[in-house]
Amino acid sequence: MVLGLTGGIATGKSAVSDIFKGFNVPIIDADQVARKVVEPGTKGLKEIQAAFGWQMIQPDGTLDRHALGTLVFSQPEALTQLNGITGPLIKQAVVRKLQGYRRRKVPLVVYDAPTLFEAHGASGMNEIMVVTVPPQVQLERLMARDHLNEKEALERIHAQLPLAEKVKRADVVIDNSHSVDKTKAQVVRWLNEAGFGSLITTKTNEVKK
Ligand SMILES: Nc1ncnc2c1ncn2[C@@H]1O[C@H](COP(=O)(O)OP(=O)(O)O)[C@@H](O)[C@H]1O
Ligand SMILES: [Mg+2]
Repeated sequence: MVLGLTGGIATGKSAVSDIFKGFNVPIIDADQVARKVVEPGTKGLKEIQAAFGWQMIQPDGTLDRHALGTLVFSQPEALTQLNGITGPLIKQAVVRKLQGYRRRKVPLVVYDAPTLFEAHGASGMNEIMVVTVPPQVQLERLMARDHLNEKEALERIHAQLPLAEKVKRADVVIDNSHSVDKTKAQVVRWLNEAGFGSLITTKTNEVKK
């Protein structure tokens, strides 16, 4: 089973994915895959340079994430164009990883993808879990985590599909507005209901970082 894990930026996807890791559930981190497909020497980085110019490449040959972020979060067309470049490359890499887990008969894999709905990545998922918090909590946690001012944080929030829309499309909703323990209890309930109760043992019950 492949569980798609999504939510808004800074709603707590990584926190929930850490909880799954604590139960030895493998995680495919879409952000990590997204970084790999634009490493120096990749087709992805060459296409970004062709589309947005050499200003996007740092002197050491790596992608200038800050410059690219500033561009795409202020220009929706640029974000669409970027997703058009990286989307297919990410999908290919994820499919390959999933095939590996299937071969090894791993019962549950979590695909942690911030833009699962936006990038049409929801199709390969058996179920979708959406992590949500109230807007004010999201804004505060994002500003604190990424050292952004309110305007920058709101730009990043508004560049995504509205959180309420994601919640509507979810099979299961996790409310991460309270303590991590309360969030963990919701994950445990889902694991039990989905038939993965055997993954919850006292041995794996500690949340690993
Ligand atoms: N239940 C929680 N209580 C307090 N802070 C939290 C909680 N869950 C996450 N955070 C904090 O909020 C920020 C965003 O969480 P994170 O898991 O990184 O979000 P995402 O991966 O969805 O972008 C992080 O700084 C994280 O430490
Ligand atoms: Mg995260």
